[in-house]
Amino acid sequence: MNESEASGSWSPAMPVDAASIRRLVERFYQRVRADDELGPVFNDAVHDWPEHLETLTGFWRSVMLGEKRYHGRPVPAHFRHRARMAPHMFARWLALWRMTAQEIFAPEDAAAFVERAEMIARSLQYALYQELPPRPPHMRQKGRD
Ligand code: HEM
Repeated sequence: MNESEASGSWSPAMPVDAASIRRLVERFYQRVRADDELGPVFNDAVHDWPEHLETLTGFWRSVMLGEKRYHGRPVPAHFRHRARMAPHMFARWLALWRMTAQEIFAPEDAAAFVERAEMIARSLQYALYQELPPRPPHMRQKGRD
């Protein structure tokens, strides 16, 4: 028995499939709802949690498994709550996401979930707050930047 098994926190990594994505989404939103900063935003905005969990499970199945299960529009959905959100909250969101993914998946699978979330978080942040980073040198044009 290794150390983490002895402490009772060990559980086998799950394969990436519909059931494990559902578990990830459920655990993640349990954490988010209990979070001092993120919790109030979600708890005020979401009135039908079973429906939200279903939507987000579909979203992540589309992202990670290539299933066409999500047909929503994340930017307008977040824009509605722009006044309650702030750029720094994305770091907290991502920290909770990383923690939850690492509990469920093998390290390389958890890393894939985190990488996709980071990319989406960046584009959402840009869409909401227009906080674009400087262009990398190869993309710069004369007379700009
Ligand atoms: C500061 C971080 C974030 C906050 C506070 C936040 C908040 C919310 C809220 C309140 C909703 C419900 C919108 C509504 O039904 O009115 C929502 C929906 C959603 N969020 Fe986020 N979010 C954050 C980051 C992210 C990130 C990083 C992702 C993806 C990686 C994401 C994906 C989604 C999706 C797919 C929906 C469903 C949109 C729809 O109804 O089609 N969110 N979010």
